[in-house]
Amino acid sequence: MTRMLGIETSCDETSASVLNGAGDEVTMESLVILSQDVHRIFGGVVPEIASRQHLTAIVPVVTRAIADAGLTLDDIDAVAVTHAPGLVGALLVGVSFAKALAFGRGIPCVGVHHMEGHLFATALEHRDAVPPFTALLVSGGHTLLMDVEAWGRYRMLGRTRDDAAGEAFDKVAKLIGLPYPGGPHVERLAATGDPSRFRFARPMLKRNQLPGDGDYYDVSFSGLKTAVLHAVRAGTEDDRPDIARGFHDALVETRVEKTARAVEQFGRERVVLGGGVAGNRTLATAMQARMNRLGATVYAPSARLATDNAAMIARAGLFHFERGERAPLDLNAFASLTIPGLVHA
Ligand code: KG4
Ligand code: ZN
Repeated sequence: MTRMLGIETSCDETSASVLNGAGDEVTMESLVILSQDVHRIFGGVVPEIASRQHLTAIVPVVTRAIADAGLTLDDIDAVAVTHAPGLVGALLVGVSFAKALAFGRGIPCVGVHHMEGHLFATALEHRDAVPPFTALLVSGGHTLLMDVEAWGRYRMLGRTRDDAAGEAFDKVAKLIGLPYPGGPHVERLAATGDPSRFRFARPMLKRNQLPGDGDYYDVSFSGLKTAVLHAVRAGTEDDRPDIARGFHDALVETRVEKTARAVEQFGRERVVLGGGVAGNRTLATAMQARMNRLGATVYAPSARLATDNAAMIARAGLFHFERGERAPLDLNAFASLTIPGLVHA
């Protein structure tokens, strides 16, 4: 059994968590997530402000996570920290802190790729959300469709050609006049809209696409965003719920159909959702309805674990730790980095 402290500071959440366990038998002892509300004023994350807020929050957040677990620093066996991808200044705060802690306490440190963390998040809540599965990671910065053969063995199937799914939600929210971050607001407004009024084209979804075609799994949301812009300009305030509904339906259907293609090609029986947009219940429900026809089960994390959090980082860190991986104390932070464990073709 390992007591792992996780630390996440890649964007605008300062988070720390303590897990205890081994293999897939892991208990979440605590999870503290401090969301930086200040960015709402600016309608997007301001990198330098994010870094400074992490710097102020990191010690109290870690202290609280250890106390909530009913432990002291002496009980922590190892520390896992997000070192990529993300805002470099923000990542550096967590990385510096984790290294200082590891150095000072003489305990091991493990560097974790943020997107690999999202792959592990759902397993903290659902025992069966373990490989092999098809993974759809949809966040503010990423939109990835992967086949997960085993932990640490990932096949990248598709990504977005332009905006990430969450980014599309946030931009559409702005166009419609909803607050940042826009995802939950667009979801709520769309639920009140008429689905028959705005039927936007499904981006990159054509029946004649074949596995192996570049666009079989990739998506693109910029055209959809532009279609929304034109509809908003041409319409009135009263049209906005219907426009939100049109956007929401197009995005969800695209995500669901591309995921179904992956489930069919690899014969998977489980679909695991991750990333902030996975907190979208409409997406999870539509996904399960479609997967019923393929005999697959969908596992979606709760909103707390869908969003950026340190528990998923500790969980991915534990996997690497158990494989004997240790970060050197010159561990660095990177704005972008390929996910480890990629298998090709
Ligand atoms: O994973 P995350 O917390 O941070 C990143 O790593 O980006 O994802 C944040 C994104 C935001 O774009 C937000 O608008 C979106 O997730 N989001 C949602 C919902 N909740 C959060 N998008 C659609 N529907 C939701 N319910
Ligand atoms: Zn994330």
